[in-house]
Amino acid sequence: MSAALSVRRFEETGPDSYPRGLPPWTYDHPAITRLELERVLRPSWQLVCHISNVPNAGDYLTFELGPDSIVVLRDREGVLRAYHNVCRHRAARLLEQSGSCPGSITCPYHGWTYNLDGSLRGTPVRESFPGLDRAQHGLIQVRLEIMAGLVFVCLQGDPPSPASLWGDMLADFEPYQFENMQPLFPMYTETWDVDWKVAMDNYLESYHVPIGHPGLARMMVPDYQDALNLESGVARGVGWLRDQPSSQWTERQYQSMVQRLTTHLPEPNRKCWRFYSMLPNLGIDVYPDQMDFFQVLPYGPGKCTIRGGTYALPDDRREMRVLRYLCNRINMGVNREDADLCRRVQLGLKSSVYTPGPLSKLEVCVLQFHDLIRERIPQTLLPAAPAEFAR
Ligand code: FES
Ligand SMILES: [Fe+2]
Repeated sequence: MSAALSVRRFEETGPDSYPRGLPPWTYDHPAITRLELERVLRPSWQLVCHISNVPNAGDYLTFELGPDSIVVLRDREGVLRAYHNVCRHRAARLLEQSGSCPGSITCPYHGWTYNLDGSLRGTPVRESFPGLDRAQHGLIQVRLEIMAGLVFVCLQGDPPSPASLWGDMLADFEPYQFENMQPLFPMYTETWDVDWKVAMDNYLESYHVPIGHPGLARMMVPDYQDALNLESGVARGVGWLRDQPSSQWTERQYQSMVQRLTTHLPEPNRKCWRFYSMLPNLGIDVYPDQMDFFQVLPYGPGKCTIRGGTYALPDDRREMRVLRYLCNRINMGVNREDADLCRRVQLGLKSSVYTPGPLSKLEVCVLQFHDLIRERIPQTLLPAAPAEFAR
């Protein structure tokens, strides 16, 4: 996020006036969702995929952000580019989902053809556009940056590069070699009946872990030593794997295998799961054996899309396949628990009596997220929707 992100510190709130989260109406309101797209999401870096999702010239993947669609594509020279996925003639969506267009991009409507570098190559019945300046009708470029093998785009404004926002924390990723990873599964998208902020709030704090995720609590020592960059909105939490075997078989097997199979990592990294977040809507989970990302996007008020991908270093040892299977199985359970907790919050936010409760110091990243929303959309400071937002 912008370096100008203003953040309240807990010390500024006084001994018994705790900071509070956003008022419930902001979690299900079309005007807020529209403003969040305009002022929070479009001007921020959005993770589209990993470089290995588009390995060859012509490979592409699309990314939807509210009404906008972006295509990330590898050109003939092997350079990754990003464009708005809209034909310059009469607006047809050019590409869908993912695939490969090795030579050029052809619009399915009237057949305008674009080179992989985005320039307009040709228009059928050329003489029907006398004097058309093709140079003025190429695809509209979008800023793209690659950080640790992860491909980010920014639709609006000029924020500092992802690498500069991650700063020193980027060095954490080095031993894991994200750049050399390959997809473990196809990327996934799912829809949750909760506002994107509910899902993000949940990801931004580990206060709920001991109660909400009994499996994680059995496997890991709760570590509340979260690192947080107040300026950039990047944060880290680390969970240390317990020596004591879990009572649950899957978890116990994982604990018993992980350190032995991940000797490419320095010793401390073999013993921990690391959870990173970048405001406004990204999570990156780093395990000794694999990594994944988790991105939350509004899908209308009170609904969101969760996008993600899982990546790992090439390793065909049978035991490594087992270890990764165990890791994914454990995390599928965690994901189900989070989905259920978020569903409960979204229901509770509709209550006629609820007003935001106090936030713990362990919820400082939630506060930072809410302060970002309040800064960009001051109406969210109001206890009820203002008249100008009448539906
Ligand atoms: S809308 Fe694309 S060629 Fe007409
Ligand atoms: Fe959780």
